[in-house]
Amino acid sequence: MDRVLEPEVMADPRQALAYARADFGEVNQRFVDELVARHPMPAHARVVDLGCGPADIPIRLAAALPRSQIVAVDASIPMLALGLEALRQRPPRVSLICARLPHLPFADRGFDAVISNSLLHHLPEPAVLWRDVARLVRPGGVVHVMDLFRPRSVNEARDIVEAAAGDEDQVLRDDFFNSLLAAFTPEEVQHQLAEGGLGHLACAVVSERHLLVSGRR
Ligand SMILES: C[S@@+](CC[C@H](N)C(=O)[O-])C[C@H]1O[C@@H](n2cnc3c(N)ncnc32)[C@H](O)[C@@H]1O
Repeated sequence: MDRVLEPEVMADPRQALAYARADFGEVNQRFVDELVARHPMPAHARVVDLGCGPADIPIRLAAALPRSQIVAVDASIPMLALGLEALRQRPPRVSLICARLPHLPFADRGFDAVISNSLLHHLPEPAVLWRDVARLVRPGGVVHVMDLFRPRSVNEARDIVEAAAGDEDQVLRDDFFNSLLAAFTPEEVQHQLAEGGLGHLACAVVSERHLLVSGRR
């Protein structure tokens, strides 16, 4: 099945709200637990999360790494507004930045870790992500990027939505379906990594719908 693009930035407030209300707690916590278990980091690690959405992963990561600084970036104002709401009354170690890849206001090699979940499939041109990953992480720093992978058929995509989000709001289900069709295959991601000078990193399938690129620069 060929890739079908979906809108890049999730700028519709209804879409952002449906996403923030959906139950991604287990997947997000697994993302954080895997990151922390695989990659010991300096106590005061600086981490950037690209395409942070409503900031659930940055909040969980700040709890797992109690002296870290997390910079969470998204180009959607409705998503960041929900992130701001979620951050109220939490320790101020997560900063939200409104910016759009590839136009990020950060110096080269400024982060101990670059992380991202479910941004890649939104990008018409995937090299945009890998260029910023390679640019922002310090030598020896951590890269931890997870995304959906594209199923073999539309029917398979429908089955995944039904199984994983059968009880969710219709806006969320439609977005999820569109995201599966917009996602890359593990082979395509491996090729992107090689093209982006990150070919030493492996792209692994880690669930019935997720792939993970995890290693050090
Ligand atoms: C599916 S959401 C994932 C949110 C979050 N990472 C999570 O796992 O809950 C993808 C996010 O990437 C953002 N996004 C898409 N293209 C972007 C770009 N070029 N720069 C910054 N953010 C972008 C969207 O606005 C959206 O909030």
